[in-house]
Amino acid sequence: MRPPFMKAAYFTELGGPGVIHYGDRPLPGPTPGTVLVRVAASAVNHVDTFVRSGAYATELHFPQVVGRDLVGTAELIGPGAAGRFSPGDAVWSNSMGFDGRPGAAAQSIAVPAERLYVLPAGVDPVQAAAVLHSGATAYLALHRHGQVQPGETVFIGGAGGGVGSAAVSQAVSAGALVVASSSAADLDYCRGLGASAVLDFRSPDFADELRDTVGRVSGGRGVDVHLETSGRHQLDLAVDVLGLRGRIVLMSGMSATATIRLGRLYPHDISIRGFAISNATETDLAEAAETVNKLLADGALAARSITTLPLQDAARAHSAMEAGTVHGKIVLLP
Ligand SMILES: NC(=O)c1ccc[n+]([C@@H]2O[C@H](COP(=O)([O-])OP(=O)(O)OC[C@H]3O[C@@H](n4cnc5c(N)ncnc54)[C@H](OP(=O)(O)O)[C@@H]3O)[C@@H](O)[C@H]2O)c1
Repeated sequence: MRPPFMKAAYFTELGGPGVIHYGDRPLPGPTPGTVLVRVAASAVNHVDTFVRSGAYATELHFPQVVGRDLVGTAELIGPGAAGRFSPGDAVWSNSMGFDGRPGAAAQSIAVPAERLYVLPAGVDPVQAAAVLHSGATAYLALHRHGQVQPGETVFIGGAGGGVGSAAVSQAVSAGALVVASSSAADLDYCRGLGASAVLDFRSPDFADELRDTVGRVSGGRGVDVHLETSGRHQLDLAVDVLGLRGRIVLMSGMSATATIRLGRLYPHDISIRGFAISNATETDLAEAAETVNKLLADGALAARSITTLPLQDAARAHSAMEAGTVHGKIVLLP
């Protein structure tokens, strides 16, 4: 007999990390089209703090369980979801906890079958949970929105971080040349991921170094795809070093503002395109999931460091994310 309750980290109003409670919530049933998953690990991402605070407006059903990414085991298969999943399958999802869907930071969750994917055999649930969001984000930013092509030059800012490092590896795999920026401590790590050149973003000569490096790496053509994942933008400089038909995929910096010279934009067919994985369709997510699974199976998508915390520390995890004191990924264990 299953107990009627489960433990979860949930919030009943928008606000700071203190609105997150830990306690009993009714155990969900596998409604039509869903699979009831026993959660083994759920990740804490920046976007979870935006959903909780209201900075990212989305449909929530209070009490709302926090968290978007989870890895676990399929327990019960709802009507309409049979055939695709079987009890005992190792599975994952990276699109829960917003848009009216229940969150991942719980002992169990009913996940729509279209948003659930089988985890490749032998992949550790905690390791996988740590990279689902960054791996899929990097894929969609580079391919779906950036339209990266072999031989192109890609600039990746924040390359030492979760999304940035996944983007460096995937851009290199796509045959692109990568110019990256990171903290001084992360330069070697980024080179190890295959970046052609890495710049310390704190260097007082960063702008000149970027111009010289892009000129050298791209053979004078300029940057084709620009991804700044740090949330700290120098958009005028970014536009300056873009080549003809360069694409800026704007994906971080929730409260940032920028000034750019428009005269650099239209004469060079330059585009700036906003992208948030929250808007990705089920088809986009499934395509990204295929790549994520391949990378996971190959051991080519891994977090640098993971801090595991018990589910009851979800509020503490959100505080640390907002304070910027997290280096690596936090994964919650139910
Ligand atoms: N649009 C989307 O769909 C989407 C999806 C996922 C994430 N995001 C956003 O992308 C951003 C990164 O997420 P994440 O999970 O990768 O975070 P993360 O792991 O914390 O990475 C951020 C990285 O940026 C570095 N950094 C800070 N300031 C920098 C600067 N001025 N230049 C270059 N690097 C700098 C940090 O280095 P230190 O640690 O040394 O400070 C850190 O390595 C967040 O703002 C997140 O909200 C957007």
